[in-house]
Amino acid sequence: MKIIGTGSVIPKKIVTNDMLSEFLDTSDAWIYPRTGIKYRHVISDEKLEDMAIEAARKALDDAGMKAEELDFIICSNVVNEYVTPSLSCIIQGGIGATCPCIDINCACAGFIYALDLAEAQYKAGRVKNVLIVCAEEPTRMTSWKDRNVCVLFGDGAGAAVLTEGDNIKGIKLSAASATDKLYQIRTLEPTPYITKEEQNISLQLKGQDVFKFAVKASSGDIKYLLDQLHMKAEDVDKYLLHQANIRIIHAIRDYLEQPDEKFPTNVENHGNSSSASCPILLDECRRNGTVKKGDILALSAFGAGFISGAAIMEL
Ligand code: UT7
Repeated sequence: MKIIGTGSVIPKKIVTNDMLSEFLDTSDAWIYPRTGIKYRHVISDEKLEDMAIEAARKALDDAGMKAEELDFIICSNVVNEYVTPSLSCIIQGGIGATCPCIDINCACAGFIYALDLAEAQYKAGRVKNVLIVCAEEPTRMTSWKDRNVCVLFGDGAGAAVLTEGDNIKGIKLSAASATDKLYQIRTLEPTPYITKEEQNISLQLKGQDVFKFAVKASSGDIKYLLDQLHMKAEDVDKYLLHQANIRIIHAIRDYLEQPDEKFPTNVENHGNSSSASCPILLDECRRNGTVKKGDILALSAFGAGFISGAAIMEL
């Protein structure tokens, strides 16, 4: 398979670090050096499903493809207003597609997991054209009273259209369960029979544990793929990494011993948009010419679970 179109949508509301310090005991002087984030886009009056549909439309336009030509839609999402139906079904109707669709929840690694699922469909000979949409609103998962967590995230949707081709060189998925490091819990509807105590817990993060996992997992996944493909780190033109923290990106860069210009970033003005992070970055890089057809790209992401994944492809 190969990527032939991308699109992304971000909410219009910009929240700077200084704006956060108006109601939180935090500051740009703390946030920027530790994370690389200057501001993030936060959902206000937008609906995530509308953003997801628009990102999908943009990717289809970019690919020169009609929605009716799609054979499968995969949507990566952690949380949205609907419990059911799936976000992918809402997107399917919104763009006027008629193909089957599925949601996955693979936290911030969702784009890589979606690529892997798509590849399996191609290998089974079931599909010609696939749409992946990653749509996330992590700012609705955090407590905006918790400075440890809410400063890190931003919202957005990124999409990619795939068609037949031989451009995916390899995909590596990993999981290492550590469910107390990054989690959110919400209550369900009560029944007459529920006797246990339940409570809503906003997104909780053990920052340094996640940081260490992220560096190890992403570096390991990329190295594994390079070795499998008999490639060297130098053979990759651009590394498009999950945009969670500039220091994590720098640590992976240093592990791979590659120059900074191979690591485009947008964490400065998006923060961590969960699984939407990679496809939004890919879309921005394609549109501003940072990556071009024929480039060898390495994508890598990690997230709650813990899970992680990497993909090496020719654009
Ligand atoms: O997609 C995966 C999602 N998550 C991540 O990728 C997060 C990975 N982890 C990280 O990015 C970093 O660990 C953080 C940015 C979350 C934290 O950076 P750090 O260098 O690990 O922070 P630290 O441990 O040096 O600092 C923690 C201190 C605490 O104070 P004490 O206990 O040392 O007095 C916090 O209370 O910084 C305090 N703190 C803050 N202070 C001002 C935590 N958040 C803030 C804040 N503003 N927003």
